[in-house]
Amino acid sequence: MAILVTGGAGYIGGHMVLALLDVGEEVVVLDDLSTGFAWAVPKPATLVIGDMGDTAALEAIFANHHIEAIAHFAAKIVVPESVADPLLYYLNNTAKARNLIEVAVRAGIRRFIFSSTAAVYGEPIVNPISEDAPPAPINPYGRSKLMVEWILEDVARARDFSYVALRYFNVAGADPAGRLGQSTPNATHLIKVAVQAALGRRPGMDVYGTDYPTPDGTCIRDYIQVSDLIAAHLLALAHLRDGGKSLVLNCGYGHGHSVNEVIDMVKRVTGIDFPVRLAGRRAGDPAMLVAGAARIRNLLGWSPRYDNLQEIVHEAYEWERKLPSITAKATDAARKG
Ligand code: UFG
Repeated sequence: MAILVTGGAGYIGGHMVLALLDVGEEVVVLDDLSTGFAWAVPKPATLVIGDMGDTAALEAIFANHHIEAIAHFAAKIVVPESVADPLLYYLNNTAKARNLIEVAVRAGIRRFIFSSTAAVYGEPIVNPISEDAPPAPINPYGRSKLMVEWILEDVARARDFSYVALRYFNVAGADPAGRLGQSTPNATHLIKVAVQAALGRRPGMDVYGTDYPTPDGTCIRDYIQVSDLIAAHLLALAHLRDGGKSLVLNCGYGHGHSVNEVIDMVKRVTGIDFPVRLAGRRAGDPAMLVAGAARIRNLLGWSPRYDNLQEIVHEAYEWERKLPSITAKATDAARKG
């Protein structure tokens, strides 16, 4: 029996693949390599290069492998891009997920773990935000993911099918063993951008908005270390295997850091000062997003191990430092065939 990991060549999905292999699971990855890398998928896992919108490709996976559950990571994830190109997000994140779910249900798959997002909450009225807060996304990214939660809810009601939707807050850091990290060249995420600026890989960086209603005027986010996030997925899988009911759970630590605090930490950890420009607000950014983090602890017994911004930044920095040599080695290996 295997777990199908869509987006398993990407940042978060790739950490899931490592974690599953670490505990001896069989893994099949489906990834179109639009932002992921074949080198990020270790040998024991099967890599299928393809698209979730391709019904025949999905049917072939279900015919050729004994898939027990799906962990669905593949998605577009850049909020401002979703504002500029909403149809891309509704195609990629909503329509293709619907297709995946349809083909999976037809193939008799009954367990599904979905990468949802804190962006479903929009501009929350209270922080920390509980799962019971009414979803009110303020950008197409959040809406595109919320629609999938609704599809899953309805399918679970109609069929013998259970799911766990995990609403990620801001995922950051890298595998503590140093095997994987955030590798996308044009990543827009704060910690990645800041460590790139520290390394001189970009001339500097912008702070998007200094007039938010927060103590220092910059946005506050709940940064969750990627391996802690993946531990939640393994618990979700165990829960579904035990016959547990469908759940929607926040994934965050329950406290946040401002953009300025994160940039200061990157400067402190790296010992490098870099140019920071105070810029205007970025479209679609809520002022503050902090997880109400009790439910996942209570229902899945999740207990985070890496709740430490300094460590998170350190991991991101160490990964960024070695990324060029990893990419060069992979290109070399691909050339040699
Ligand atoms: N930011 C900057 N400068 C940068 C990059 C980011 O000031 O160069 C700011 C943003 O404006 C925001 C904060 O840093 O205030 C965090 O931005 P990110 O782009 O790192 O992350 P987002 O909060 O926009 O989005 C992330 C994920 C989403 C998820 C969301 C939920 O990409 O998938 O967190 O909080 F939905």
